[in-house]
Amino acid sequence: MKGIILAGGSATRLYPLTTVTSKQLLPLYDKPMIYYPLSMLMLAGIREILIISTPTDTPKFEGLLGHGEKFGIKLSYAVQEEPKGLGQAFIIGEEFIGDDSVAMVLGDNLFYGNGLGHMLRSAANNEGRATIFGYYVDNPSDFGVVEFNRDGIPVSIEEKPKKPKSNYAVTGMYFYDNRVVDFAKKLIPSERGEYEITDINRMYLELGDLDVQLMGRGFAWLDTGTVDALLDAANFVRTVEQFQGIIISAPEEIAYNMRWISKRKLLESAQMYGKSNYGEHLKRVASGKILYSKNVGERPYWGRDDDEDE
Ligand code: DAU
Repeated sequence: MKGIILAGGSATRLYPLTTVTSKQLLPLYDKPMIYYPLSMLMLAGIREILIISTPTDTPKFEGLLGHGEKFGIKLSYAVQEEPKGLGQAFIIGEEFIGDDSVAMVLGDNLFYGNGLGHMLRSAANNEGRATIFGYYVDNPSDFGVVEFNRDGIPVSIEEKPKKPKSNYAVTGMYFYDNRVVDFAKKLIPSERGEYEITDINRMYLELGDLDVQLMGRGFAWLDTGTVDALLDAANFVRTVEQFQGIIISAPEEIAYNMRWISKRKLLESAQMYGKSNYGEHLKRVASGKILYSKNVGERPYWGRDDDEDE
């Protein structure tokens, strides 16, 4: 499976913060925003990732993340000339996707919760179907909204409906089989002039091929569209990290635990991050003294402490 991070758009609601920089490069507490969605794709086990952004911002992402060596993955880049909608990502990424299945995550979405990795890997293995995630919100009209029947089966999906049929928003993380490229080609612009991902999801729904996983109370999903949402998300990360004394969404840690990078490489990154908490955290990871758990209810296991690449 391939992965796409969509990190374009003009983010005018965050002006003047985003007049000369990309929203997805802004800090979310202690790391650039794009570290969070990047971590999600890596947790899903995806190692070939395309980052799509604007003509001016794409080189900045490349400057930050390079070609993925330090994360044990392969990163490539593509430009979206104008923000014509989320569905366009699969047209821009057609060649990159090739014959594969593909996951897409929005560059400004933050997910957190125990068992997330397990949930993402199950979605990545859901062959021949699409998987999206529903999350209870108070303001469904601001999102894609999915309606379920009494058996918990999705029956309708609408983009920013004035009269939402449920309180379940569709989060910015999507897993598709290869048909998504053809479905994206069939899109016609919506009333707001965008190629809507919700229309792609509806095509899967109408074929009976859409699975909607619920992200329940144990999970946090935050987006960062306004200055208040940005501050709330940063405060959330700070609270979790300070209470637990760990760093969340560190791609190097995920890469190390996936055995995609060696201990030597992990420590090289730790060195590069200098005296920051982030660098200190990577050193702790390398010492093997952190306990991990894959899922609630499963026995925890110690982090690895060897120097073998995969
Ligand atoms: O966050 C989840 C929601 O994302 C879903 O519930 C909606 O169904 C989906 O349409 C989308 O809604 P938004 O209104 O939040 O989308 P927005 O236009 O804000 O774009 C989301 C991110 O993608 C944002 O960081 C900018 C970026 N983007 C957006 C467009 C339209 C691009 O990179 N290119 C684009 O063409």
